[in-house]
Amino acid sequence: MRIVLDMDTGVDDAIATVLAMNSPEFEIEAVTTVAGNAPVVQCTRNSLLITELIEPWNPPPVAHGACEPLVHPLIIAPEVHGHDGLGGLLDTLPTPHHAADTRPAVELLAAIPHDGPDDVTLIATGPLTNLAVALRIDPTAMAAYRRIVIMGGAFDVPGNTGPVAEFNFYVDPEAASEILASGLDITIIPLDVTTSMALTRTALESLVQSGGRTDIPAPARPGRNLAAILYRALDYYMDFQKDQSGLDGGFMHDPLAVAVALFPSIITTKPASIEILTNGPERGRSLVHSPVDGRTVNIAVGLDESTFHQILEERVLSPVWA
Ligand code: BDR
Ligand code: CA
Repeated sequence: MRIVLDMDTGVDDAIATVLAMNSPEFEIEAVTTVAGNAPVVQCTRNSLLITELIEPWNPPPVAHGACEPLVHPLIIAPEVHGHDGLGGLLDTLPTPHHAADTRPAVELLAAIPHDGPDDVTLIATGPLTNLAVALRIDPTAMAAYRRIVIMGGAFDVPGNTGPVAEFNFYVDPEAASEILASGLDITIIPLDVTTSMALTRTALESLVQSGGRTDIPAPARPGRNLAAILYRALDYYMDFQKDQSGLDGGFMHDPLAVAVALFPSIITTKPASIEILTNGPERGRSLVHSPVDGRTVNIAVGLDESTFHQILEERVLSPVWA
């Protein structure tokens, strides 16, 4: 299955990248970046670094995307992901060897060739700015994607950016609104399912220790060591969650979107049309309405948590840390 990843490369986006790249079912056509968790320059750098650490000789192209949302000023999430999107490691991270693709993200998104009915799945795990711009410029190219899996929204659970909004939809509500009303084949992975399971610090630590990775816990400069970089990034991410809610772990929002593209049956869905509030105190809120012709999407409402955990263990945790 050919895929494209569009992301605001923070900690869970980085883990999602590892999951996608360690999945032999996937061929990654491109990674496109967008401002969100961190400024887009950082997201591009993070994606270049993570992809080339996994696939040093032939990493997928990484294209630089929108540096701000369609209408609102950019809001980033340094408290969750660090000022650089990877747990504040910036000063200790190596410069990627590869450069970003010369094409802007929207151009690359529209240029992906679609060969047959099984092509190409687009997985979006950041604000939907690139997708909305690409849709405005070239709706035919965007309609050629077989399926779009989007991490975003909060329906029957509290938001994570204010009381009612989920971060990706909060940052660019106009883009979310345009994409969700586009009539494209869309599956939404909201906080309702992504927060039903967390990667706990205990699970991570026990793996690191069983793998005998004494190099990981606290090198001052992780260098070109994927395990050390991701370990420290997750440490920051889990510290935030612990301060916030007492949970000593981190939610794998974006990896779940990748896992759903791989194995659609790990979720149950319901069809609906979604309204996104774009302004006011409830900006970014996602409201579910009955399906409406031409703007119906599938919302994930249930998750097979143990299979998702197993996927993470086999394709991310063990390969990286054990
Ligand atoms: C989403 O917001 C970001 O912080 C995460 O990377 C994820 O995509 C969760 O609300
Ligand atoms: Ca994200």
